[in-house]
Amino acid sequence: MATSSKDRKVWFCTSCGNESPKWMGRCPACGEWNTMVEQTVATGKNPGRQAVRQPSGYRPMHLREIDSSAECRMSLGMAEVDRLLGGGIVKGSLVLVGGEPGIGKSTLSLQIPLSSPGMKTLYVSGEESARQVKMRADRLGGDDSNCFIFSETDMGAILAQAEELRPDLMVVDSVQTMFSANVESSAGSVSQIKEVTAMLLHFAKVTGIPVILIGHITKDGYIAGPKILEHIVDVVLQFEGDNKGSYRLLRSIKNRFGSTSELAVFEMTGKGLREVTNPSEMLIPMHGEGLSGTAICAMLDGLRPFLFEVQALVSTAAYGTAQRSATGFDVRRLNMLLAVLEKRAGFKLNMKDVFLNMAGGMRVSDPACDLAVVCAVLSSNFDFAIPENVCFAGEVGLSGEIRPVNQTERRVTEAARLGFRKIYISSFSSVDNSPKGIEIVRVSDIPALVRNLFKG
Ligand code: TYD
Ligand code: MG
Repeated sequence: MATSSKDRKVWFCTSCGNESPKWMGRCPACGEWNTMVEQTVATGKNPGRQAVRQPSGYRPMHLREIDSSAECRMSLGMAEVDRLLGGGIVKGSLVLVGGEPGIGKSTLSLQIPLSSPGMKTLYVSGEESARQVKMRADRLGGDDSNCFIFSETDMGAILAQAEELRPDLMVVDSVQTMFSANVESSAGSVSQIKEVTAMLLHFAKVTGIPVILIGHITKDGYIAGPKILEHIVDVVLQFEGDNKGSYRLLRSIKNRFGSTSELAVFEMTGKGLREVTNPSEMLIPMHGEGLSGTAICAMLDGLRPFLFEVQALVSTAAYGTAQRSATGFDVRRLNMLLAVLEKRAGFKLNMKDVFLNMAGGMRVSDPACDLAVVCAVLSSNFDFAIPENVCFAGEVGLSGEIRPVNQTERRVTEAARLGFRKIYISSFSSVDNSPKGIEIVRVSDIPALVRNLFKG
């Protein structure tokens, strides 16, 4: 009846990792319902900590003694990934790459060693056999002269091999398939995931070998069901995108050694992932000039400016009530903008159906898109095409005023770089160094915008 003194049954919250001695319907730590799962944990050991022998002389050091001159970052051979990490991977860091199944995590992490043959890499796969990894590598191409594959799920064996091989980089695919003999629950359980991650973190810190850890995301968008890993690891990169479409976004959510507002764009091709160095290209219209209902927005995602097309269709409502629908944009915000157009600028849109779409399947939350949305709606309503080389960046307030947005200068510079000739911004924005070749038009409110834009 009684459990052995070494084994303890506890309940874990799969959302935040909170531990509780009994089941509860609602986790007291994060407030989520129905997230508690039962797990057995072995006590009396201090697992993980013994995985790697501490080098002799491992003791507290004075800050002054520590040598920071040695090169602590290493290039991964993929420029966009390096940029996302803040200029290469930091030695001894643990990087978690999360994403839904099939999005391309394994592909990316195998492409890294294949594109930097100078780096000795150990690629541990718990999901595929060595032969399957080889088949994938053949498909990706690249130089495989310094890449070692190990198909194993036991952390003890993996760390022993890694210590012997001493690679420059280790990839572990995936955290959910690995298990440690120190913990008795099955692979993929909360306690195993925590333990495996802690072992890898310890390994990375002691040996200085950077580790890329892959984690599947649950349906709710949490890595391994929880925030539990996010605070253990140094860097969290998240793969996003529609896995039917070919574009993938890799976003840095946490980075102890760099900025978190970075984003890299990839395209999934027949030969693996291609880095898209100029993401605006994929989002800018394919059609010629003269189409009404479209406006280009200079948006910012993180620190990276993007230019993309906002499309609107305004037509007379077929039935009594007008329909409003928005793809990639908050429909409540659309309704607010339409109300502003009606009340502050006198456009009668209440009997019109309005459909809004953000090109390329983008989902935007940047308030700077307001101006482009308003212009696309007006352009469709009056069937007046906005000239091709014009773009917009501004927030629209409730009184119809056009408000400044952050990082206006970056947006203007990106627009100029892509060949736009005119950008509409708020008259309250300041741009210190305006780039050459682009005219900045400052507008204070919607009537002023309309006068300027549709005067021709
Ligand atoms: P994968 O890296 O296995 O996803 P994850 O590890 O995140 O689960 O990616 C699998 C998808 O990528 C699969 O649907 C096939 C596609 N793919 C390509 O389109 N081209 C390629 O060269 C490769 C290797 C995969
Ligand atoms: Mg995979």
